[in-house]
Amino acid sequence: MNYLGIEEKKLKNVVSALNALLADYHIYYQNLRNFHWNIEGENFFDLHNRFEDLYNDAKVKIDEIAERILTLRHHPKGSLSEYLKISHIEEFDVAVSDREMVNAVLDNHAQLIKRMRKTLEEAERVSDEGTIDLIGGFLADLEKQSWMLDSWRSRKFATEASIY
Ligand SMILES: [Fe+2]
Repeated sequence: MNYLGIEEKKLKNVVSALNALLADYHIYYQNLRNFHWNIEGENFFDLHNRFEDLYNDAKVKIDEIAERILTLRHHPKGSLSEYLKISHIEEFDVAVSDREMVNAVLDNHAQLIKRMRKTLEEAERVSDEGTIDLIGGFLADLEKQSWMLDSWRSRKFATEASIY
């Protein structure tokens, strides 16, 4: 039964955009786990916990995106090799400093935000309000999380500058 009331072929681009977002989110999720495990130094407790909060949030969103694709009567991509092929976000496999980790997470957020805007554009084109509502909420959450991480970084800059 087509409960959607949107022509099947019109949803093709929305589904592709959602699958691309799903791939990005998986790599982002794994980057956060990597950072959660490998963080060292004076900011350990702050960032170890913060990265855990972020990956738990990402885990919920990954499931929501995949189930939105199913709701649109398509299949979400499910393999890591496929995610790596289509993701715009790159894996981190080396231990880096706390500052570099925060920079990397903010870069990942910028990529995700770009993909979300693209998804919203496609959804708006076919009046897919369900996707607009879901991804619009994710976008606002990510913007807020980015502001917080950026504030952490700015505070550090200010503290360092005041030493000299
Ligand atoms: Fe842990």
